[in-house]
Amino acid sequence: MNYDDVVTGRRSIRGYQDKPVPRALIEEVLALAMRSPSSMNTQPWNFTIVTGAVLDKIRAGNTERNLAGVPHSREFRIGTAFEGQHRDRQVGVAKQLFAAMGIAREDKDARQDWVLRGFRQFDAPICVIITYDRELADSDDTAFDCGAVTTALVNAAWSRGLGAVINSQGIMQSPVVREHAGIAEDQVIMKAVALGWPDDGFPANAVVSERKSVAEATNFVGFDSDG
Ligand SMILES: Cc1cc2nc3c(=O)[nH]c(=O)nc-3n(C[C@H](O)[C@H](O)[C@H](O)COP(=O)(O)O)c2cc1C
Repeated sequence: MNYDDVVTGRRSIRGYQDKPVPRALIEEVLALAMRSPSSMNTQPWNFTIVTGAVLDKIRAGNTERNLAGVPHSREFRIGTAFEGQHRDRQVGVAKQLFAAMGIAREDKDARQDWVLRGFRQFDAPICVIITYDRELADSDDTAFDCGAVTTALVNAAWSRGLGAVINSQGIMQSPVVREHAGIAEDQVIMKAVALGWPDDGFPANAVVSERKSVAEATNFVGFDSDG
């Protein structure tokens, strides 16, 4: 697969085959991802790869606590609710996913099932917990660097036929993740990536989310008018 095929073909995968992913392949994907640039080459990222019974305990604990109304305890700032164009994009992709899954707007049970699926890491066979070194917590570069390596990870996975979805839903109850995955206190939990072989029959996996145009996102300065 060439670069364009990976970048334009990749999409978030929220339904997986019940098929194990070889550890060597995960290591290969991580090695590619870790070629990402980072501020001063600090490489603040670390990865805890969880599967099997441990991952099932995390899914269960995360789901139970969320259903019980325990306030989320994510270890990063989430800001206030989206408004305007950001809210429109959030709603836009949700509509695409619900349409693909045949979930009607008024079908509260089906919508709740979808949320619960997220709490379970989309039933993926593997979850990669992205953490960073706590001593670098004061720098925004650290979050920036974690984003870079995580994007590289999902692209590298795609290039090997694996699917993934970066997610915050699976780590809403971070103490549960920390306890079962044995994450040390010198690490801050940043994000999760559900990983596995895509189930091609799962409708949401076909959704291609929209992007604003280069023209909308870009301001060229100092160029001749003909570029
Ligand atoms: C930081 C971050 C957090 C995300 N959290 C979730 C999540 O909790 N649940 C989910 O279903 N998708 C989550 N996503 C996936 C986004 O919804 C998805 O990347 C976006 O809609 C674009 O779609 P695409 O990945 O298919 O191109 C997250 C993505 C990022 C980068």
